[in-house]
Amino acid sequence: MKLFDVYPLNNITVVKAKGSYIWDENGLQYLDLYGGHAVISIGHTHPHYVQRVTEQLNKLGFYSNSVKLPIQEELATKLGKISGRETYQLFLCNSGAEANENALKLASFHTGRKKIVAFTKSFHGRTSLAVAVTDNPAIVAPVNQTPNVIFLPFNDEASLEACFRAQGNEIAAVIVEGIQGVGGINVARESFLQKIRSLCTEHGSVFIADSVQCGYGRTGKFFSHDYANVDADIYSMAKGMGNGFPVAGILIAPHLHSKHGMLGTTFGGNPLACAAALAVLEVIESEKLMDNAKRIGDHIQSELKSIPELQNVRGKGLMIGFDVPESLKDLRKNLLFNQNIFTGEAKPNIIRLLPSLALNKKDVDQFLESIREEIHAPALNQ
Ligand SMILES: Cc1ncc(COP(=O)(O)O)c(C=O)c1O
Repeated sequence: MKLFDVYPLNNITVVKAKGSYIWDENGLQYLDLYGGHAVISIGHTHPHYVQRVTEQLNKLGFYSNSVKLPIQEELATKLGKISGRETYQLFLCNSGAEANENALKLASFHTGRKKIVAFTKSFHGRTSLAVAVTDNPAIVAPVNQTPNVIFLPFNDEASLEACFRAQGNEIAAVIVEGIQGVGGINVARESFLQKIRSLCTEHGSVFIADSVQCGYGRTGKFFSHDYANVDADIYSMAKGMGNGFPVAGILIAPHLHSKHGMLGTTFGGNPLACAAALAVLEVIESEKLMDNAKRIGDHIQSELKSIPELQNVRGKGLMIGFDVPESLKDLRKNLLFNQNIFTGEAKPNIIRLLPSLALNKKDVDQFLESIREEIHAPALNQ
């Protein structure tokens, strides 16, 4: 049997990782500023994480949601505290798409409505409703197409107002990333998020803050939406939550009520996933990684802004993007194969940095030296 070929692969075989570094099968070391797509939050194979997951595996690897699993309560308490959302409720699942799927479903159950507002350049996942609110027709199968989704321009308060004025009483939810990731690191304006909050409150709609990529401390605040000083009704989380262990969840405001059987999953909230998620929160707290993300992220941004070839350096904390001119379109590839540095990309010529929140200054300086070298020596690489 062969693998279903859906991923364009870099010709690199990764076999080992530690902190912000990964190694290939030949022992070649790479600096990882991509984190396997914003997943590695506390650093690869962090000792506390390895120990907590190993201990849990030796105690109880799995049981289903038909019995009490106290580690779920432990995670909910810790998450409530660190996110400043102690009154919220936690539903655990397995991936970002599943988190958004459940958030959207819950909003529809709660309001009894069908319409969802989403925005241009959004990415919310690939399951049926998550992909329907994703602004990329190429990945929407005919069966996922629905007239219930209204796409509006991102950061455009006037069109949001007009939409609510026309059909506010039909809108179940507005779903928005605090910083669009796949869309190319587009930061939601604070006034835009505040407008979503006030319109949702006025019309009884549910504000869903997709924090799958921009959340979990990456921007220096637990949720990037927190920069706007708003409380969403539901936060979806995944990627950085388990530092690589598949775990996801939604935080649900107290006025949204649960009912037995309303949502469910076999693997969601399994003890191993909870142990991984707890280890991540413990390390974020003990190593002050949110402060680190902000400090190191600000440093990277100000240094990148001093490189004239790079345009529109943007983002918050350790979620950074910049535009690369057409003449340097191979920059990302050259960083990978000439300098052994992993970065992310977005269309058309955008480089994304999504490193571990524990990234240190020495590694940043190496990256800055390498990127300057690649920019100024493009002829050598052809
Ligand atoms: C903002 C956002 N939401 C949802 C998802 C989907 O997450 P997953 O791939 O875990 O289903 C992603 C993945 O890139 C994302 O960036």
